[in-house]
Amino acid sequence: MARNSNGTIGILTGGGDCPGLNPVIRAVVRRADMLNYRVLGIKNGWLGLVKGIAEPLSLISVSGILPRGGTILGTSRTNPLKNEEDKKRVYANLKKFKIDYLIAVGGEDTLGVARKLSAEGVKVIGIPKTIDNDIAGTDQTFGFDTAVSIVTEAIDRLHTTAESHQRVMVVEVMGRHTGWIATVGGLAGGADCILIPEEPMTIEEICEVLEKRHSRGRLFSIVVVAEGFKLAGYGDVVTKDKKVDQFGHEHLGGIGEVVAQEIEKRTGYETRVTVLGHVQRGGSPTAFDRVLGTRYGVKAVDLIHEGKLGMMVCLKGNRITYIPLKKAMTKLKYVDRELIDTAEIFYG
Ligand code: F6P
Repeated sequence: MARNSNGTIGILTGGGDCPGLNPVIRAVVRRADMLNYRVLGIKNGWLGLVKGIAEPLSLISVSGILPRGGTILGTSRTNPLKNEEDKKRVYANLKKFKIDYLIAVGGEDTLGVARKLSAEGVKVIGIPKTIDNDIAGTDQTFGFDTAVSIVTEAIDRLHTTAESHQRVMVVEVMGRHTGWIATVGGLAGGADCILIPEEPMTIEEICEVLEKRHSRGRLFSIVVVAEGFKLAGYGDVVTKDKKVDQFGHEHLGGIGEVVAQEIEKRTGYETRVTVLGHVQRGGSPTAFDRVLGTRYGVKAVDLIHEGKLGMMVCLKGNRITYIPLKKAMTKLKYVDRELIDTAEIFYG
């Protein structure tokens, strides 16, 4: 059979970057080569399709990228459907590049665009990505495991300095409107209180937890707070500024400082804040994320080959499978009650 006779697959990575994107890209190129597809790498997420920037990906271009963080394709938070002109450009560029199939790797926004294009007839496969782990339809997104291991290491380090100084350390982590990173990272790091959007708490309740801990002789504490946590009675989420991105998302950040100030004011315990920020998204993916990304990439190409389009690959238990994009993107996936209950056992 002639090489590359099955058509061209375009691949893009959109939204916030996360560890595991490069393993996905490598897997797509390797599997596509095996099944005789050409792969075109679209630059900077949907922006590359609006502006018409893409380049062929070969076995050589993906060699050595498995352990690398970030994405060799670049990414952006561009919404190509926000106006008719950009949307027309997307269609014109799909035609210009002769893209037969599109693999969109991203979170709720990127996959939301993929779902809409799929409904209009574009042959799309979605791959769920985000450190936030908030995509319903998959048991886990890649990037999450790496973020959790970074948070865990940070909490381990904060423990020794917290204990030496007998301080309360407040650690603000990412996660947007869900508390997955905070809950799993906090559990793994042995946090004494975990504050997440799913479970509002008052400042009195938080201080009570810390005072209980003090009363049993533990004079330092670790409080993990998710950036999207709302302190009951203190209004809405805390944002860094008034800006929103092209999908309408606020720029979350600052709740750690609010919580720390209130704890110190009410308990008198010396308190410090650490905001982990984008460190959680940087660097090399864990083994788990490399393997999950690789399995997702292979499955995405296999679905194209089998003609199963308009799907999102996903993890169900230990199995890689798929669900229709339209079913995957209906709601955010919040932290399970069982996990929250388990974390609460270790409060105080
Ligand atoms: O969605 C991933 C994420 O890291 C969120 O946890 C966080 O709120 C947001 O992206 C930060 O976005 P940016 O990289 O645009 O600052």
